Amino acid sequence: MTKSVMLSAIQPTNVPTLGTYIGALKNWVKLQDQYDCIFFAVDLHSITVRQDPVKLRELTYHAIATYLACGIDPEKSTLFIQSHVPQHAELAWVLTCYAYMGELNRMTQFKDKSAKQGANIPAGLFTYPVLMAADILLYQTKLVPVGGDQKQHVELTRDLAERMNSLYGGDLFTMPEPYIPKIGGRVMSLQNPTAKMSKSDTDASATVYLDDSDDSIRKKFKRAVTDSGTEIAYDETQKPGVSNLIAIQSALTGQTPEQIVASYVGKQYGHLKVETAEIVVQAISPIRTQVEHRMKDRAELEKILRRGAERAQAQAEKTLKKVYDRIGFAPR
Ligand code: TRP
Repeated sequence: MTKSVMLSAIQPTNVPTLGTYIGALKNWVKLQDQYDCIFFAVDLHSITVRQDPVKLRELTYHAIATYLACGIDPEKSTLFIQSHVPQHAELAWVLTCYAYMGELNRMTQFKDKSAKQGANIPAGLFTYPVLMAADILLYQTKLVPVGGDQKQHVELTRDLAERMNSLYGGDLFTMPEPYIPKIGGRVMSLQNPTAKMSKSDTDASATVYLDDSDDSIRKKFKRAVTDSGTEIAYDETQKPGVSNLIAIQSALTGQTPEQIVASYVGKQYGHLKVETAEIVVQAISPIRTQVEHRMKDRAELEKILRRGAERAQAQAEKTLKKVYDRIGFAPR
């Protein structure tokens, strides 16, 4: 029996956050037996905004080390760096010729990101979702676990798949679906709990990074913005700050928000902050140690990456060959 393909990726533009861990990495680990999983660091996507070359390389290895530290098993899952599999860029070009200016113009992430670029907007920022579509369609992916902000890109991918399938035969691409986890999907900023925790927040105390020291994690939670009143209740609209802390605890301990609230009857916000910090420290500090250990053994990382890229290329080449053949390219 062949398993369905599940695929996801992270941009190596910063150290992953507690939000990425809870909303993505932690869930992926559990899906490794159920699906044929493909995970990678999207360095090609990263250069749609300027990156420092030294930092980009380091953060790319760091992303892979983080996957491993969180429990992604390179024997079970395919783990690699996007630029090591040239088929991504090749299929992206083909799909660029079938995507419409109008549909790319409607992407909300493009509108947000391009607004920050001033007069010179890199064309790659515009075609970014096409590269993401190539990432997904290359592997005949069924499920794409993503946050809400990426759902529109998966929908575009479906539109492109349908367009290509109706032009060149229905078996060209598998129709992918976004996979939004039921619980623990969204961790909010510790300084503005109505906005999602972001790895590019200019306020460092708003975000917990997976390489933060235990002390730094404790400080960030101590300073976390809570709400007016004193009662500890789970109510995302009335008490977004307190609810965020409860949701983080819930995601990391498996207790329901109701059980957590019940354990805080008669206690204060301060207790909730201190105890949430401890739960986060317990979750993150072994990951940080593992990442540090992995980052020191570059040769082993490279070995894992070479194997991952080989496996990915073999899969990707099958789809790319089929596409090149159907659109009329002479065989190479
Ligand atoms: N665009 C995604 C993000 O910023 C990263 C990404 C690139 C991705 N290619 C992908 C996610 C393919 C899922 C599948 O989060």
